[in-house]
Amino acid sequence: AAVVEHTFNVGAMNISQLCTKSVIYTANKQLPGPTIEANEGDTVVVHVVNESPYSLSVHWHGIFQLLNGWADGAYLITDCSIQPSGNFTYHFNITGQEGTLWWHAHSSLLRATIHGALIIKPRNGTAGYPFTVPYGEIPIVLGEWWNKNVYDVEIDAHLTGLGPTISDALTINGKPGDQTPCKGAGVYEMEVASNKTYLLRIINAAVNVELFFKLAGHKFTVVAVDASYTDPYATDIIVISPGQTVDALTTTSAPPGLYYMAAKVFDSKTVSIPFNTGTATGIVRYTKAPNNTVASMPAMPAHNDIVTAGTFYRSLTGLARPGDPAVPTTVNHSLVVEFGLDQEPCAPDQTKCKNFALVASMNGYSFQFPKNVCLLKALYDGLPTVYSEDFPMSPPPVPVIRKATSVMKVMYNEVVEVVLQSRAYRNNLGTESHPIHLHGFNFFVLAQGLGRFDPRARGVFNLVNPQVRNTVAVPGGGWAVIRFTANNPGMWFMHCHLDAHLPLGLGMVFDVLDGPAPNLLPPPPVGYPKCY
Ligand code: C2O
Repeated sequence: AAVVEHTFNVGAMNISQLCTKSVIYTANKQLPGPTIEANEGDTVVVHVVNESPYSLSVHWHGIFQLLNGWADGAYLITDCSIQPSGNFTYHFNITGQEGTLWWHAHSSLLRATIHGALIIKPRNGTAGYPFTVPYGEIPIVLGEWWNKNVYDVEIDAHLTGLGPTISDALTINGKPGDQTPCKGAGVYEMEVASNKTYLLRIINAAVNVELFFKLAGHKFTVVAVDASYTDPYATDIIVISPGQTVDALTTTSAPPGLYYMAAKVFDSKTVSIPFNTGTATGIVRYTKAPNNTVASMPAMPAHNDIVTAGTFYRSLTGLARPGDPAVPTTVNHSLVVEFGLDQEPCAPDQTKCKNFALVASMNGYSFQFPKNVCLLKALYDGLPTVYSEDFPMSPPPVPVIRKATSVMKVMYNEVVEVVLQSRAYRNNLGTESHPIHLHGFNFFVLAQGLGRFDPRARGVFNLVNPQVRNTVAVPGGGWAVIRFTANNPGMWFMHCHLDAHLPLGLGMVFDVLDGPAPNLLPPPPVGYPKCY
């Protein structure tokens, strides 16, 4: 196994995008940022040098961080962020996972421009991919772009108490494409040879939007999601929510020419809240494309096509090879977590707030980040007053919202099942789907559906080959059931990956205690960004 080492200098970068000159913050002046490529079994070392004026944590989205929660990079959960002019070296091993993951800033909206792919190939000398080795592999990072400094976009969201202003464009590998009002906006292009199979490693790095993705004239075979292999699934459309990845094979058997790839928003909200209606485009160019060929556009579904989205999400099954972890059948903690958004009166500091602000909650608790301390260090140092261990196992009978730093205690190796229930089935306050992401673990998605979870659905749980993910798109007004083994002591955040919902409180934390074998978690690494 090798050591894969990178240095990320996070600092200002001048960019001309959408006919606007902006200063954004990126790693190594790249958008998307550098791709980390490793093999399963490798150690990754990333020196993050913070040359930005903002405090910064970098999260390795989907990496297990076994006995290494200190490197999870979740601001105020597992560290206190790297201060301006500071630096920190993240060290982690990659064990037991292969496929496409990504990394992103985990503090304020900085993730909009500070992110990149994290690709894990099979360990040398193993069976390799469970599909034909592709001729080429290409990361496709889908993103969202604001002309305004995203830090200010975030401040504005706080002052209004609502979501951030909608983005100015969607992007493919950092470029908006040629369907925006700005003539001459950048277009991502990939060149392909005819009759070859390519692996597209698609990442939704957008901040607040779920996306449809298509490639004109071509079909996909999905072979992995969230760095977990799936049974091959043939489709002409990919549906992907923020935080998720999809690995899809596509064969270049179309007549040599130019083909658009396109991404547009999937938004199932039933209330009329404005959203980004643009389409990001990129171009697939066959090497033998005749001169002056015009690219063809894929036909995209309507923005609210919940049937297409639901079909895609529900059709995936895990590859479940011999030796892969089986679905645990004994459950130690069975939770129902109902989550959603509510209105509350404006807080005094919300100067631009007119009548109400939004507040989000899970089982009646609106998650508050601790102040000047992070939960993992507090756990390690035995400072229990920083949080309360009273996260409820089920929704409160009478709707009530408490603002608290509430965690749920789980013993090492216990099995947790969560019915994730979107509360929108009750009040219809924007039945958008919420991508719920769990740090530190993969989970099995046993079933998902619309409306209120009916316990009879337990009869149709897939306990044989469910898809394995770290982020599940819980349908608007619907539900998904996940199950995982808490085999990693630490403080693990579970939250909505729509960035706008994080400061509103749409999260909770699993406090996985060491259990019978004490002190499994080693002390914090050298230079760890601590608060005190
Ligand atoms: Cu990709 Cu807590 O996030």
